[in-house]
Amino acid sequence: MIEGLVLGLESSCDETAAAVVLQGRKVLANIISSQVEIHARFGGVVPEVASRKHVEMILPVLDEALQCAGVGLGDLWGVAATQGPGLVGGLLVGFTAAKALAFGLGVPFAAVNHVEGHIYANVLAHPDLAPPFVCLTVSGGHTDLLHVPEFGCYQVLGRTRDDAAGEAFDKVARFVGLGYPGGPAVDRLAQEGDREAIAFPRAMLGDGTFDFSFSGLKTSAVNHVHNLRQRGEEIPLPDFAASFQEAIVDVLVAKTLTAAEAVGVEKVVLSGGVAANSRLRERMMAEGQAKGFQVYYPPLVLCTDNGAMIASAGYFQLRAGRHSPLDANVIPGLRVG
Ligand code: KG4
Ligand code: ZN
Repeated sequence: MIEGLVLGLESSCDETAAAVVLQGRKVLANIISSQVEIHARFGGVVPEVASRKHVEMILPVLDEALQCAGVGLGDLWGVAATQGPGLVGGLLVGFTAAKALAFGLGVPFAAVNHVEGHIYANVLAHPDLAPPFVCLTVSGGHTDLLHVPEFGCYQVLGRTRDDAAGEAFDKVARFVGLGYPGGPAVDRLAQEGDREAIAFPRAMLGDGTFDFSFSGLKTSAVNHVHNLRQRGEEIPLPDFAASFQEAIVDVLVAKTLTAAEAVGVEKVVLSGGVAANSRLRERMMAEGQAKGFQVYYPPLVLCTDNGAMIASAGYFQLRAGRHSPLDANVIPGLRVG
C-alpha cells in the first residue's frame, strides 16, 4: 500500500471518470471517457442512456487509470466516489464500484459531494491555496456561491433560484442550433462578437442578495431569436453569443466580488464546468485583482467533471477520519452547506 494513494470515481452526469491521486495533490492519472457525442444527438443528456454507458465504461476507465499511474489495486490507500448531486443511475455505477473495491481491498471509502469535488480541483491546481475564501461553483447543474472558512465547512451565500448558469448556456445554444454542450460553442463564437450588440437582462443584479436567476435571460434570448426568425432575418450568431455570455458573466462576477467583500476574505475561487469560460476567467481575474483579491481557477481539464477532484476531496475526508460506511447510498439531490 502507498500512503495517501486514492482512487476517485466520478459518474454523476455524462462523463465516466477515474483518477489516481497521491495525498490529495499529485495527479498520477486522470482518465475521462466522455459521452458527449452520444447525447449530442438528443440535444442533452438522456439519463437512461448515460447509466448504460457508465456500466460499460467504468471498468475500462478504472483499468486505464491504474495502468497510467503505474500502480496496482493493492497499492490503494483509499477509494472515493461521487455520492451526489447528479443522475441516480449514473451515480449508482461509480458509487457501487467504489464501495465494492473498498470492501474487497479492505481500505476506507469516502463518499464525496460533487460540488465539493469541483472546489478541490483548485486544491490540485494550486498547492498553496488555503481557506478562507469565497467560491463560485458554476456548472451544468449548479450555481453555488459559498463561503469556505475552512476545508469541509461550507456556508451558502447564494445559489440559483432556477436554471444553473451552464444550463442556460446549454439551452440557449441548443435553441440556436449550436449543439450540446453549448457553453464551449458560445464561448468560441463570442470571441468574434460584439458584447453590446443586444441588451439582455441582468437578473437580480444589485438586489442585495447573492442569489442568481437565469431563466429570464434564457426566455429573453429565445424571444429575441423568435422575433428575428419571424421577420425572416438572420441571427447574428457571434453578436448573440457575445451579448448573451456577457449578461451571464456580468452577474457572476459582480455578485461573487460583492460577496467576497461582504464576507471579508482575500481570495476568490472559481470552479465547475462554466469556470472554463474564457470571458468569466478573464473578467474575474482582472476585476478581482483590481479590488485586491487573489483569484484562483483550475486548468480547463479540471473544470469539467473528472475523477481527480473526487480523489482529492476524498483524500482530505479520509485524512480527517471521515470514513463513509459501506451501506451509504447515493443522494441525487445532495447539497453542500
Ligand atoms: O462541471 P460540469 O462538467 O458538469 C456538471 O457538474 O454539470 O459542467 C458542464 C457544464 C455544461 O453546461 C457546459 O456547457 C459548461 O459546463 N461549459 C461551459 C464552458 N465549458 C463547459 N460554459 C461556458 N463556457 C465554457 N467554455
Ligand atoms: Zn460537475
